[in-house]
Amino acid sequence: MQTVHSIADLRAALAGRGRPAFVPTMGNLHAGHLSLVRQATGLGDVTVASIFVNRLQFLPHEDFDSYPRTLQRDAELLQAAGCDVLFAPREADLYPEPQTFKVQPDPRLADLLEGHFRPGFFTGVCTVVLKLLHCVFAGSPGAAVFGAKDYQQLMVVRAMVRQFALPVDIVAGATCRADDGLALSSRNGYLGAGERAQAVQLHAALQALAQAALAPGADLATLEAQALDALRAQGWQPDYLTVRRRADLQPPASLQAGTLVALGAARLGGTRLIDNLEF
Ligand code: PAF
Repeated sequence: MQTVHSIADLRAALAGRGRPAFVPTMGNLHAGHLSLVRQATGLGDVTVASIFVNRLQFLPHEDFDSYPRTLQRDAELLQAAGCDVLFAPREADLYPEPQTFKVQPDPRLADLLEGHFRPGFFTGVCTVVLKLLHCVFAGSPGAAVFGAKDYQQLMVVRAMVRQFALPVDIVAGATCRADDGLALSSRNGYLGAGERAQAVQLHAALQALAQAALAPGADLATLEAQALDALRAQGWQPDYLTVRRRADLQPPASLQAGTLVALGAARLGGTRLIDNLEF
């Protein structure tokens, strides 16, 4: 595996190597990321991963400074997973000057859920993802894999790629879970031992909400309020626990199995976790 830092070196490393398959990450890799990389190896001729902690998608009070940076270990894991090229730009490679031109995603998709609780988050995500896609693909077609754990991010990126007519297939990677059901996340490392044991309660809350939503005569607003109260009673501070249409993340007019997704974000101690469940 070749590691490159500048955009010029990335393009040189990819020249003449065929169709890229790409996995963007912020590093501190876990088994979920590595499953996306293995998925990507079947989607192109050359597998590329990026590691870049993107300051544009962090709010001032969030964990940009403390976000774990583990490049050496990540590089070893990527190589073992079949990655051919690691693009690890420095801040000055990707943002050589302040990034004053930004992607403004459709507010109907990007200002709800995560975007409501983290204003500007999807502007930061879309701005860096558009730049990364441009660096990797530069006009030649290929595929990029995004984890389904970040469900809304996957939808926002898909819509951006469609609207900018980028020649990239956005492929979903299934969420990897620990044995107890907790979705793997780089931020799980912030959890203390007691919190880690408790953390699966978010997934369990989504399962219970989804099951209750499909019961005859279910009243979604009541169920969502009950789910929030139940999580609070277990010591969480939830941002949202909700059932939406898979198609556009809007509240569903009818509760039809196979068209819905339960999404949740909640803080346990100082750690904010998100998860979702299609049903
Ligand atoms: O999902 C992530 O890790 C990040 O949001 C991404 C897509 C790498 C953009 O910084």
